[in-house]
Amino acid sequence: MPSVNDRVLLAVESSCDETAVAVIDADRRVLASVIASQDELHRRWGGVVPEVASRAHLERILPCLREALDASGRSLADVGAIAAVTEPGLVGSLLVGLTAAKTLAWTLGVPLVAVNHVEAHLYACRWAADGEPFPAVGLVASGGHTSLYDCRSTLDFELLGTTIDDAAGEAFDKAAALLGLPYPGGPALERAAVGGRADAVPFPRAFLHEPRLEFSFSGLKTALLYAVRGQPNARQPPPSITPERLADLAASFQAAVIDVLAAKCEQALAATGRDTLCIGGGVAANRALRARLEQLADRRGIRLLISPREYCTDNAAMAAIAWDLLEAGRVSPLDIDVTPGLVRKRDQNAAPAKLTSPAANASRR
Ligand code: KG4
Ligand code: ZN
Repeated sequence: MPSVNDRVLLAVESSCDETAVAVIDADRRVLASVIASQDELHRRWGGVVPEVASRAHLERILPCLREALDASGRSLADVGAIAAVTEPGLVGSLLVGLTAAKTLAWTLGVPLVAVNHVEAHLYACRWAADGEPFPAVGLVASGGHTSLYDCRSTLDFELLGTTIDDAAGEAFDKAAALLGLPYPGGPALERAAVGGRADAVPFPRAFLHEPRLEFSFSGLKTALLYAVRGQPNARQPPPSITPERLADLAASFQAAVIDVLAAKCEQALAATGRDTLCIGGGVAANRALRARLEQLADRRGIRLLISPREYCTDNAAMAAIAWDLLEAGRVSPLDIDVTPGLVRKRDQNAAPAKLTSPAANASRR
């Protein structure tokens, strides 16, 4: 009988609008990573519709499981453990992945490991590292989250601060919609910004110089709205949106988000004394952000680990963190439930913090 380490981890991620399955071996090599995106289903609404997302997960989960196993060259007999993302996310979406994972774990008689989606985003930085990524300051910037963590180890993350309104990716998505760009807005806005002047429009940068590890992007969004449609009661109409104006608006908006993300990372590094910075989540795919953080790392002489671009947006490979949890004995009972909200690790018994999570804000994405 082979030990669990000779076997593979089958990981399922369905917290929002991607149905994802990955097969990862005990050396954390990703043997297969399958992602069925639902972008085309949600595009016409300009954001994720939770009920549509759950139903699409139901249709896609079994084909994704089969495809991932086939692509990995392994079979169900090789599976030593099942990982499922159980928090945070859309409740219906999470339930589809978790139910599939529970069923497989029970049928195969292998352990089930519950994974936190945000911690998994940070774990993806290990594929940018030679050795262990943590301890580090971690920033997750995605469509549902913009949060800073003190990552003590792969088993110990402390939330340092988060957004008080929109997430950075959500702000990109809304800004793109205002500019007439397609969903998801982040990649479209990044493309539109090429050749634009980052200092063309002086957009606000919330809390930039305030000593607080929090973010706010709603004022920035309103400022863009006024720049596009004009101030209420303004005497002059706003400048028309020529291709040059569009590029300037996109570049200025992107620069405002990046300035804030970089400044808060720097504050968190100073506050914790850490010398490694890990960045994950969909917004970490943004090339201008990556370049800015490289500059920051050079200036401060710190180690920078940004998730490889293929593992920035939602995927199941990042649920490889389940190997670390499994090795530490953190197996989940088969009656475990999903937890839609983001829970502060130091305060597990308190009500979920009032944070921007996909579950609370899906319609805003
Ligand atoms: O991590 P992710 O797939 O889902 C959540 O956990 O929320 O992140 C998706 C978000 C979307 O808001 C998308 O617009 C944003 O990441 N995003 C980007 C880029 N690529 C994806 N934002 C800025 N620049 C990009 N290149
Ligand atoms: Zn995510």
